[in-house]
Amino acid sequence: MDYLLTEEQKMLKETIAKYAQERIAPLADKIDKEHYFPEEIVKELGEMGIMGIAYPSEYGGAGMDFVSYFIAVEEISRWCASTGVIVSAHSSLVCDPIFRFGTEEQKRKYLPDLLSGRKIGSFSLTEASAGSDSGATKTTARLEGDKWVINGSKLFATNGKEASVFVLLASTDPGQKTKGISAFIIDSDTPGYRIGKLEKKLGIRGSSTAEIILDNCVVPQENLLGEVNKGFKIAMITLDGGRLGIAAQALGIARASIEDAINYSKERHQFDQPIANFQAIQWMIADMATEYQAAWLLGWRASKMKDMGLNYSTEAAMAKLKASEVASFCANKCLQIHGGYGYTEDFRAERYLRDAKITEIYEGTSEIQRLVISRAMLK
Ligand code: CAA
Repeated sequence: MDYLLTEEQKMLKETIAKYAQERIAPLADKIDKEHYFPEEIVKELGEMGIMGIAYPSEYGGAGMDFVSYFIAVEEISRWCASTGVIVSAHSSLVCDPIFRFGTEEQKRKYLPDLLSGRKIGSFSLTEASAGSDSGATKTTARLEGDKWVINGSKLFATNGKEASVFVLLASTDPGQKTKGISAFIIDSDTPGYRIGKLEKKLGIRGSSTAEIILDNCVVPQENLLGEVNKGFKIAMITLDGGRLGIAAQALGIARASIEDAINYSKERHQFDQPIANFQAIQWMIADMATEYQAAWLLGWRASKMKDMGLNYSTEAAMAKLKASEVASFCANKCLQIHGGYGYTEDFRAERYLRDAKITEIYEGTSEIQRLVISRAMLK
């Protein structure tokens, strides 16, 4: 489907594919097994412009478009889904809201370090009792003089351990749910801010998933992002873009699964011939390839719509829903084609399956994507 890409996008795809195969692939096993955060890769991706790929050069970005970002996250995730989500959560969930809703002063202060990868970003929306119901946020922010005092705790913050800049949502008008939430930019060295529990996860083990504790955390008034009580919409608009990052990550996992399944089925002999000769295997590969291409086209379409300035919320939900379910489907088939070997750690199939599952859950479960899509269809 490269014919849908511009010359610049094709060149970028080749460059990242080569880099990911040479530099990220050899580390992917260590990243997974040792829960290793690939600091050196993040640094190099920053130097290559990938941590700020879709942002203007005046703030230190690479000045490319969102389709380029979508391609980059897929190519990285083809070899390592942990690295894919580190880039995606940083770029979509932190750089994007600061770029879109930040004051000029906030953009000048935060974006150059974030877009170059010198600083890592993390997004804090979820709480223990505010998951899919993100409007149920209990963390509060109270204005005292010229400072916001924030209290509460957040869960499941991707990059939470390594990040030095957080975009965090808190209730500024408790009881008003979605109409009483505001967004804040918080530096990790702010007094009253600390990291709590680090989650041990089934997959994407190289990316940290942290609890954030805010105990009378005092944030300067100027760190409010956007308007007071308008933070829920900022979060939703941010997640529209984030969901495309996760779609790209899922596509990378799906492609890895397909490529490994094809290679293995050509090498593995049973009944005196490669198992690729059997129709049972051929049909699995046909289904995987067809599902992957359908999902890719949905992701490309929504990314293109974002670049064109169109409303793409529903299309982003469709792309994320499809790509995440295709990633799990392809990873499951890949493991099946590997048979007993696929169930061992000697092959990558089991990692793909573990990594794929989260794409159906974070940045909105498949059920929430269906809710977003059906609301648009039925309105
Ligand atoms: N763009 C702009 N505005 C939007 C919007 C969007 N995509 N979605 C909703 N809104 C607006 C609505 O228009 C509405 O505006 P008004 O008040 O002016 O009418 C307002 O926001 C409230 O919307 P809803 O009434 O639809 O709100 P809701 O309470 O019914 O919730 C929801 C809607 C879709 C279920 C939402 O809560 C949701 O997306 N939940 C899932 C949360 C999620 O994805 N969490 C992931 C966290 S990040 C993560 O996973 C960790 C990580 O680091 C990777």
